[in-house]
Amino acid sequence: MWIYISVHIVSGILIIWMSQEPYKAYNTISAILAAMATARATAAFSSVAIMLLFVCVGAHAGGRGDKVKVVDLVVETCKNASSSCRNKHLNVTQEFCVQTLRSDKRSSKAKDLRDLSLVAVDILKIRVAAAGGKVKEALQKAKKGTDEALGLRYCQVDYDAAIGTLGLCDAMLRDFHVPRGDADGPWSFELPECVEKATDHVSDCWHDLHMDSQTLINENEELIKLGDLNNVLLGPYDFDS
Ligand SMILES: *[C@@H]1O[C@H](CO)[C@@H](O)[C@H](O)[C@H]1NC(C)=O
Ligand SMILES: *[C@@H]1O[C@H](CO)[C@@H](O)[C@H](O)[C@H]1NC(C)=O
Repeated sequence: MWIYISVHIVSGILIIWMSQEPYKAYNTISAILAAMATARATAAFSSVAIMLLFVCVGAHAGGRGDKVKVVDLVVETCKNASSSCRNKHLNVTQEFCVQTLRSDKRSSKAKDLRDLSLVAVDILKIRVAAAGGKVKEALQKAKKGTDEALGLRYCQVDYDAAIGTLGLCDAMLRDFHVPRGDADGPWSFELPECVEKATDHVSDCWHDLHMDSQTLINENEELIKLGDLNNVLLGPYDFDS
């Protein structure tokens, strides 16, 4: 959920307005400012500074009601993930999230977010490995010593690094305990950080690939999307709010 906070300084008076609807907050204050501007002849309001702050707070929609209801963990998790603050920049759709998780039978047995995250990490790992296979094939066909061949070799290294990192993320997820005892398993924020690092390696390949390798580039972009999905899924581990 986004909460929009408008902060206005009018003649040294601080006005703060909060709303869940951005323009409501903005318009209300604007109306006050307009009224003041009309009275400006008095010169009392000669200095008007307006500042708008859009603050994303880690609140979630819903969560109300104690009614016992059957929830689909995949749908609920994807709903939360796609509407999270974290996703504001990543733009993973609920549809893509559900589709991806449902493509793997293990999702139906998942009991919680950690189980689903393990599936998502593994889906990404399998897909990166498959993409790596195609890069290898392309490398065998590419002319030695060309920019294209060099790019493909770099990409191979990037994908290997991504796979290695995802193996680490998997191990970290399995080691994760709540609450954390002394030096016992990873901190929760380290989980989303790990998949971010893996996705960074995948993105590196995007920069390394030659423009001739359009199919490989397309596949790489799909992998980045999957990495972003992993990132938003693990978002709730980043901070407890
Ligand atoms: C979705 O978010 C709500 C509100 O924070 C939370 O109560 C619920 O457990 C979350 N659902 C899942 C499946 O993570
Ligand atoms: C988010 O993704 C949707 C669907 O892929 C796309 O139509 C939209 O333009 C994207 N928005 C941003 C801000 O990237």
